[in-house]
Amino acid sequence: MALPPLPAFPTGFTFGVATSAYQVEGAADTGGRGPSIWDTFTHEPGQIADGSTGDVACDHYHRYPEDVALMAGLGTDAYRFSVAWPRVQPDGTGPANPTGLAFYDRLVDTVLAAGIDPVATLFHWDLPQALEDRGGWMDRDTAYRFADYSALVAAALGDRIKLWVTLNEPVVHMTYGYAMGVHAPGRMMLFDAFPTTHHQLLGHGLAVAAVRAHSGSPVALTNNYSPVHACGDTAADRAAVAAYDALHNRLFTDPVLGLGYPTEIDFDLSVVHDGDLDVIATPIDGIGVNYYNPTGIRAPDEGHPLPFEMVQLDGYPTTGFGWPVVPEGLRDILVTLTRRYGDALPPLYVTESGCSYPDMVGPDGDCADPDRIAYLDGHLRAVRAAIDEGADVRGYFVWSLLDNFEWAEGFSQRFGLVHVDFDTQVRTPKTSYAWYRDAIRQARR
Ligand code: NOJ
Repeated sequence: MALPPLPAFPTGFTFGVATSAYQVEGAADTGGRGPSIWDTFTHEPGQIADGSTGDVACDHYHRYPEDVALMAGLGTDAYRFSVAWPRVQPDGTGPANPTGLAFYDRLVDTVLAAGIDPVATLFHWDLPQALEDRGGWMDRDTAYRFADYSALVAAALGDRIKLWVTLNEPVVHMTYGYAMGVHAPGRMMLFDAFPTTHHQLLGHGLAVAAVRAHSGSPVALTNNYSPVHACGDTAADRAAVAAYDALHNRLFTDPVLGLGYPTEIDFDLSVVHDGDLDVIATPIDGIGVNYYNPTGIRAPDEGHPLPFEMVQLDGYPTTGFGWPVVPEGLRDILVTLTRRYGDALPPLYVTESGCSYPDMVGPDGDCADPDRIAYLDGHLRAVRAAIDEGADVRGYFVWSLLDNFEWAEGFSQRFGLVHVDFDTQVRTPKTSYAWYRDAIRQARR
């Protein structure tokens, strides 16, 4: 069934696709790359659902020319990729590894030659293992190391990157990686993980200045945002909603926009030094919004370790992950951010939006993914509606160009516009690929 044409988007709106280094590059031992916490974590038995690792992933490190050609075929405006810190500094400190930087140099030039804007994320969770051995983001020094590394990347690529993202979803890195142990580095510290929040934010603020020293392009921070649906209407439920909202939606945004840490949760702020909040509030040029689904929250039962409890939201279709499909949530979060922060809010970029389904290539060679088409269509309309309500949204990046290594789920969740056979590395554009190509054309009219 043909969907009605998308509404026109404002002139200059960026339609892009996104990936991240560990999820697509592979070539884990190539070109002097050092080990990251994800190499360590994936090689520990039992951590990844299908026992896989990112050692090879999509082999994007070697196959990037084919992948850039796929982007060019889409007519996409921009490619958001991430730089692997351990390729640039194998042990997280010291001078740049020239072979590592040379890869990104080639990638960026190939992307530009295809008429596509390169958008670089500096940290998408692959911390050099050597830094984790010294405490990782629990250690304040990691923030300074991140600033040094960011300067090295910006010095090499600063003349060509069109938009920088310092950190990707630091709340997920903090909660999954350090509080709950389901992502690398696999630490289970619950609220004692708060220093990893502060040190990521400090690293972000320092990195903004480091990038600006070498590049005139805008610098943003990308967060995961999830509108909170109250599942109950007692005072305790309302307090739980406020606590979750503070933790998930505000913890990495309020301080960056000069409002300090939310007070709904009683963090131990002893790691915050004089002047840190000013560094963290260094003005930035954009907020990246990664949106996947809303979250249902109610008051916790007695003895629950958190000040809220998550509830599965019923009544919506779900993705392969079981995540509710709620396009309206994207409009909601874009408008909420706009109203909540007012003039303090820089332009918004939807730096990730997408869904996983168990897509297969059929005997006819096609890979039909009608659910993804419906998902993306709904979410693009939600962005358009938010713009109509006053949100200054400048771009939308589909997660992801390729099926790739989905962290703790390994290769079992496919998010791509392009199917990847991980045995043969054959790429097969799904039907959503042609749909997105046509949608971009329609939306630009
Ligand atoms: C957000 C993360 O940035 C990305 O790495 C991940 O694959 C998607 N969420 C889907 O879970």
